[in-house]
Amino acid sequence: MKEAQKLNITKSLELFEEACGLVPGGVLGARKPGDFINGEYPIFLETGEGSRLTDVDGNEFIDFLCGYGPIILGYREQEVDDAVCAQIKGKGFCFTLTQKYQNELAKKLTELVPSSELSIFLKTGSDATTASIRIARAYTGRIKVMRCGYHGWHDWCVEMKGGIPPKFYEDVFEFQYNRLDQLEELMATYGQETAAIIMTPFGHPNHQKMQEPEPGFLEGVRELADKYGAVLVYDEIRTGFRLRMGGAQELYGVTPDLTVLGKAIANGYPISVVTGKKDVMMMAESNLFISSTFFPNSEAFVAALKTIEILERDKVLENIWEKGERFMGKIRALLDKYLVGAELTGVAPMFYITFEKDETGAYKRKRKDFYTQLIRKGFFFSPHHHAYISFRHTEEDLNLTLTAIEESLAYVKEKY
Ligand SMILES: Cc1ncc(COP(=O)(O)O)c(C=O)c1O
Repeated sequence: MKEAQKLNITKSLELFEEACGLVPGGVLGARKPGDFINGEYPIFLETGEGSRLTDVDGNEFIDFLCGYGPIILGYREQEVDDAVCAQIKGKGFCFTLTQKYQNELAKKLTELVPSSELSIFLKTGSDATTASIRIARAYTGRIKVMRCGYHGWHDWCVEMKGGIPPKFYEDVFEFQYNRLDQLEELMATYGQETAAIIMTPFGHPNHQKMQEPEPGFLEGVRELADKYGAVLVYDEIRTGFRLRMGGAQELYGVTPDLTVLGKAIANGYPISVVTGKKDVMMMAESNLFISSTFFPNSEAFVAALKTIEILERDKVLENIWEKGERFMGKIRALLDKYLVGAELTGVAPMFYITFEKDETGAYKRKRKDFYTQLIRKGFFFSPHHHAYISFRHTEEDLNLTLTAIEESLAYVKEKY
């Protein structure tokens, strides 16, 4: 199988060189070139529309990162952008007081999300997970937290501990997804002091295979939270408005006390939510302080209301599940045909092709070659992060992607 030609990313590299003198490391966090494959992926984008991205060198990609999760409809979704522009131009969005849209969005959440009774609105996922922990600590009068999954960059939960006094995270304990035994052990020791158990209800640990809950896992966590009087928080930043309108809690039938939402709720506009049971949420009325200059800005509320309207009207999630399951079935058949040690995990709206670890480390070279071929062919996946499917991925996009996956697998097969 012929090797695909390397992309011309000259302008990206020039901009990156300039950026390194302006921003520490050039770009922050998961957008760093090293988080993809150095020298192969673009670093700066110019435009996007629907399922496609164009970089500053003019390379076009069918994208499966979806802005790291917010893009559930597609890039530059016209109806959403029109609603936002009309709000900005017709009424304004940043004022001295709150506009009415917060009530409309909170009402909508109570209809859709099983655990939702009262809501507060913030900007980022990290804002919301941190707020949920503060609320749970105020409600229980306890300090310790059990956590499972990535919950953002704030002091209590970020993996890289540089710049954080240990006392900010020493009361936070981690357990792994589907390992009820680990949580049982932690709760046997610290249960009476535990304020919250915060977890992603669907398993998407960073850089690892994705996991659905094993029978009894979510129910077991719910029982432990009840037994010890801890607040159960579902971090549905990635799964909310993606697995179901009511999130993974609707799909799997287990209801937490608090739910954290973000990403897909507004198709890219910045808004996040803590929503949950009234008695717990009421802590945010007067027992603690959560407020920020931009939290009430209405353009993101308008975007969320319009996004939810489209998701419901066009049965978007049904569309994504239906085409995604077909797509995954075909990927699986290709993996079975080429047998290069690649695995497919996840569910139709979010899935991941990983390579089975081996002692020689060949899996890393195979992974690099596979994803290098894909990006060179114009298919934007990440070797270190799962993929998403959006409403605007067409059958044609998915068929083109399958061909590229097959060619990339054939290339790896031939080489190893
Ligand atoms: C499950 C989960 N929780 C929390 C966060 C933090 O959200 P943000 O990056 O918007 O602060 C993320 C971000 O990727 C996430 O995936």
